[in-house]
Amino acid sequence: MNVVILAAGMGKRMQSTLPKVLHPLAGKPLLAHVLDTAKTLAPGPLCIVYGHGGDAVPSRFAGDMLSFARQEPQLGTGHAVAQALPHLDDNMPTLVLYGDVPLTSAATLQRLLNAAGSDKLGVLTVMLDDPTGYGRIVRDQGKIARIVEQKDASEAERAIREVNTGIIVAPTAKLRKWLAALSNHNAQGEYYLTDIIASAVADGVEVVSAQPDDAVEIMGVNSKVQLAELERAYQRSIADTLLEQGVTLLDPSRFDVRGTLTCGRDVSIDVNCIFEGKVDIEDGATIGANCIIKDARIGKGAQIKPFSHVDGAIVGASAQVGPYARLRPGAELGEEVHIGNFVEVKKSRIAARSKANHLAYIGDATIGSGVNVGAGVITCNYDGVNKFETIIEDDVFVGSDSQLVAPVRIGKGATIGAGTTLTKDAPADQLTLSRAKQLSLPGWTRPVKIKK
Ligand code: UD1
Ligand code: CA
Repeated sequence: MNVVILAAGMGKRMQSTLPKVLHPLAGKPLLAHVLDTAKTLAPGPLCIVYGHGGDAVPSRFAGDMLSFARQEPQLGTGHAVAQALPHLDDNMPTLVLYGDVPLTSAATLQRLLNAAGSDKLGVLTVMLDDPTGYGRIVRDQGKIARIVEQKDASEAERAIREVNTGIIVAPTAKLRKWLAALSNHNAQGEYYLTDIIASAVADGVEVVSAQPDDAVEIMGVNSKVQLAELERAYQRSIADTLLEQGVTLLDPSRFDVRGTLTCGRDVSIDVNCIFEGKVDIEDGATIGANCIIKDARIGKGAQIKPFSHVDGAIVGASAQVGPYARLRPGAELGEEVHIGNFVEVKKSRIAARSKANHLAYIGDATIGSGVNVGAGVITCNYDGVNKFETIIEDDVFVGSDSQLVAPVRIGKGATIGAGTTLTKDAPADQLTLSRAKQLSLPGWTRPVKIKK
């Protein structure tokens, strides 16, 4: 089918210069949720109707195999769909979605498409306890006869609880005809897409309906309050899915996924963690409170302790990270590696059982296994212009507060004395240190305050 996504509205109640459909839900623009769902339906032509916010919407989604139709001024939902008509293929039906209704599931849309087939008009409807504001579904002997908008409805019609979600599928050639015949003689002076229902009935086209699995699927965003509510509903559904899979979430209401999180068996996640991008957590791993983890793989049995920040990193099995550790892109930790508090690791491979437990910077380094990096050790990888590598072979001991001025290599089994500024390679198995000789001055006395 063709897909038309309506995204021209200005979203005044968002109180923002950003077009409404670009506001993020779970880290992704509202419109991107709708697009991603539409794409899973294997659609034909996909057209976004935009308007407010200038070119912000097309430039955000450029190159995404889409077409864009500008609607200016915005004269109603029927007028909006009409702008997309030049991009649509008459040989397939057209599905209309809203860019500000992000959580409609593909299964729900598929049910509507199946009900409508290629020659019927399908409307996604829902029963609401409070239908205020929505278009009401008027039925005649059980069959949908028309939709009446809140502002045009009689008191009896306002009592109808079945409402139009706005999501509609229609045969495209007929849609062209019905849209061309719309008028704006109604309470809002707009061209209503919903008026095509009565036209279909008049043309003898059957109007069918389908319902979503969950009311949250049809909720739109008109304000920051609604955005925040949908965010929590979405996060809760992700949390529930993980809980059902056996993941321990110490508090599912203090947990956020802004991407995709996959977990093995017996994974435990403490409160206030944020997962971004693609994160995989393997069996038995634990994530402490207040961690932010992005595009990462956490190996079996690894422990990420509280307040750690992990971005673009691979953490080996049974490794321990944190508290207060920072792993940056390209950090690859082997099995049982320990990275402790205030240690930053960037673009470095650290092999099995090596440790950097306190206050260190490891950047552009290759570290072997069984290495001990002391407190305060720094790889000086940057001369202000270029970056250089540090290589530390197996079983090295680097004493505290050493600076390793790259490029530099420390041979297997070497020991670097505390406080060394290493500027040349250190040979294997030897003690290397650079240090001024220690002096003590007998008879030295402290200065005394001069009287003025
Ligand atoms: C619309 C439906 C109503 C339904 C409700 C569900 C019509 C006439 N009414 O009402 O039956 O119950 O949605 O939420 O269709 N838009 C444009 N251009 C326009 C006008 C709107 O792109 O000129 C877009 C908006 O950005 C939004 C969507 O269409 O994404 C719906 O517009 P909105 O003004 O919210 O429609 P409602 O009056 O709520
Ligand atoms: Ca609306």
